Amino acid sequence: MPMVLAANANASGSHVGEWRHPTAWNNPAANIENAKRLAQIAEAGKFDLIFLADGNGVRQLDKPALFAATSPSDRPGVFEPVTLLSALSMVTSHIGLVATATTTYDEPFHVARRFASLDHLSGGRAGWNLVTTSNPDDALNFSHTEHMERGNRYERAAEFADVVKGLWDSWDDGAFPQDKEAGQFLVPEKVHVLAHKGTHFQVRGPLNAPRPPQGHPLIFSAGQSETGKDLSAQHADCVFAIEGSMPAAQRLYADIKGRLPKFGRTADDMRILSGVTIFVGETAEEAEALFQQLEDLVSPAVGVDYLSKMLGRKMQGYALDEPMPKFDEEHVGHTGIGKAILNMAYEEGLTVRQTYRRILPQMGGNMFKGDAKQIADTMEEWYTTKACDGFMIAAPVVPTGLERFIRLVVPELQKRGLFRKEYEGTTLRDNLGLGRPANRFFAA
Ligand SMILES: Cc1cc2nc3c(=O)[nH]c(=O)nc-3n(C[C@H](O)[C@H](O)[C@H](O)COP(=O)(O)O)c2cc1C
Repeated sequence: MPMVLAANANASGSHVGEWRHPTAWNNPAANIENAKRLAQIAEAGKFDLIFLADGNGVRQLDKPALFAATSPSDRPGVFEPVTLLSALSMVTSHIGLVATATTTYDEPFHVARRFASLDHLSGGRAGWNLVTTSNPDDALNFSHTEHMERGNRYERAAEFADVVKGLWDSWDDGAFPQDKEAGQFLVPEKVHVLAHKGTHFQVRGPLNAPRPPQGHPLIFSAGQSETGKDLSAQHADCVFAIEGSMPAAQRLYADIKGRLPKFGRTADDMRILSGVTIFVGETAEEAEALFQQLEDLVSPAVGVDYLSKMLGRKMQGYALDEPMPKFDEEHVGHTGIGKAILNMAYEEGLTVRQTYRRILPQMGGNMFKGDAKQIADTMEEWYTTKACDGFMIAAPVVPTGLERFIRLVVPELQKRGLFRKEYEGTTLRDNLGLGRPANRFFAA
């Protein structure tokens, strides 16, 4: 199976200072021309897909400097992702189009309908990134006073995914002959009324769209908790995983794929994509220089706000060039990443300024940095040792980082026989080597 390359298509790179870089897009907020250009660049590079992370709320209202500077994961001025991908489906012909929608604050009928439509519009290139919503404040935009508790969210997500798939199976293939002569628009024997009555949802169906070209648009998922991994094993075609080291990524890969037989699936039924920001230069020095340049675009106020966000506690008021203050673990929010950042700062004796500079360029995620050969070597090693089946690539600067990756690294991967020179087929499933699922109500 060839390596999968996905482009994280956020308008503003992977770094909080990125949008200020001289080669970054001008006016990146809700800009359709930029989005078209990015999709076409990724398609020219033979990428499998572009991917839009998403949420339903504006974040960091309580962190003034970060709010004003805009962190890429906060996305305060973006298009609704399926709406955007529908437009992009008209200016691309092969690349997969994957958007995020939440099972916590959306309805299965709406999600099934939007992604079935996108699959038809694009000729079978749609994917749904199923999330349970990471930003608790999104709840406030949906008539809730607080975020749904995780156990509940995942229980609802499993039923949600099952209903969506059931709705996609509402019609058998060939249910709409639209025969003018015979006067027959559809075949009544080829519809299935879902009549779902569950704990969270009652959905009669059927869906008001013919069966999608891919049968089911692809399902992506990203949770890394025990319940998150089980949900992926049950429903996901692709998993977006983030690990900072190759051994940790290998363990996560084996863990998630090891859960597939429990749900009657095999390892080949799923692709795991490892999230990474790639800094590539003509030389390793050039890549390093870009990294330093981005660090310099972050003011101390933004850096301290970002550190506060990652640690889950206020960091304003501490001297920037003194060592990180000693906090008990229970005072750094609830995230593993906050604890990991503190441990790193204590072990290496970092100051507050050094700590935020260290974590900013890849925003807490994984990073590869070097010349084309070094990057291709690392990617090859991760891929061949089953740390992943491919990569979800964030460019440090958009669009130039993606263009540079395509110019320098893609030919190197192609030369090694790791990556395609031409698209294998016309649908996203074709290109990923994933079969078209049978219709559960009309199996042959
Ligand atoms: C790599 C990755 C990407 C994610 N992308 C999104 C996203 O775009 N929107 C969102 O609301 N949640 C996103 N999430 C959050 C997950 O959907 C989930 O709510 C969160 O990870 C908590 O679940 P967990 O404890 O199982 O990891 C992402 C999580 C991971 C690990």
